[in-house]
Amino acid sequence: MQLDFDGQVAVVTGGGGGIGRAVCVALARLGARVLVVDLDRAAAEATVAEVVARGGEALVAVADVSRSQDVAAYVAQALQAWGCIDVFMNNAAWQGPIHDLVDYPEELFDRVMAINVRGVFLGLQHVLPVMIAQGRGAVVNTGSLGSYIGTRMLGPYTASKHAVLGLTKTAALEVARKGVRVNAVCPGPVDTPMLQAIEAGQSRDGDAERLRQQRAASIPDGRYALPEEVANLMVYLASDLASHITGQGIQINGGSHA
Ligand SMILES: NC(=O)c1ccc[n+]([C@@H]2O[C@H](COP(=O)([O-])OP(=O)(O)OC[C@H]3O[C@@H](n4cnc5c(N)ncnc54)[C@H](O)[C@@H]3O)[C@@H](O)[C@H]2O)c1
Repeated sequence: MQLDFDGQVAVVTGGGGGIGRAVCVALARLGARVLVVDLDRAAAEATVAEVVARGGEALVAVADVSRSQDVAAYVAQALQAWGCIDVFMNNAAWQGPIHDLVDYPEELFDRVMAINVRGVFLGLQHVLPVMIAQGRGAVVNTGSLGSYIGTRMLGPYTASKHAVLGLTKTAALEVARKGVRVNAVCPGPVDTPMLQAIEAGQSRDGDAERLRQQRAASIPDGRYALPEEVANLMVYLASDLASHITGQGIQINGGSHA
């Protein structure tokens, strides 16, 4: 068996972001046609341009994953363009503002939950019926180290990433006999715009670079992940090489909390 997505169709939410772009490029390099879903049109277009420049095929879908009509529209766009969905990277998320719980604005708690939990739920709700009808498919939800442990000033994000694991396990059980697998990739810190925003908010003295160096040094292998390393795991989980893996959160974090 080979790592091969030739002729397959992949849908990647948050495909304009750091990890999303890396996984779009990786899937396209292995032969998949990729629908790049993102709220940020320019970011999604930049991903498509990168895929096309490397000889791949990709399309943009501008969507807010927290809105069911947008989710229905990106699923319909993939089916109209290519007729099936083999791989779904349910990856878009927002870290929210950086506050202790007692100071956290209630409406922003709701927004974090809407994107990170309802968005993943809606993605599953709209994509799984397509995969069940096909009798095949693989979903990778993006969890986090925050799916397992708490982080100060990131309460709603942490709660949302715990919820992603709950949805992953439930979905996997419900579709396990229908040819569809559902897993979650759970990265520690990855060098992307999201992490830079978190560090800017967390550094009490305003020295985000120092915080970054301290945090990287606390990781057993001494560094953050590259988006491409996380993409490698996502691609593996979506591939036939992972044919007996379902319902799992798989951590990628340089040995943290080992
Ligand atoms: N960077 C890290 O350290 C890290 C660690 C663990 C988990 N993660 C997770 O990895 C995933 C990707 O994060 P990233 O680091 O690439 O972040 P990123 O900010 O670079 O990318 C996130 C993308 O999601 C898009 N997005 C946000 N809200 C959206 C919405 N409502 N609808 C559609 N698209 C929306 C953004 O426009 C952006 O392009 C997220 O689920 C994140 O929680 C990241």
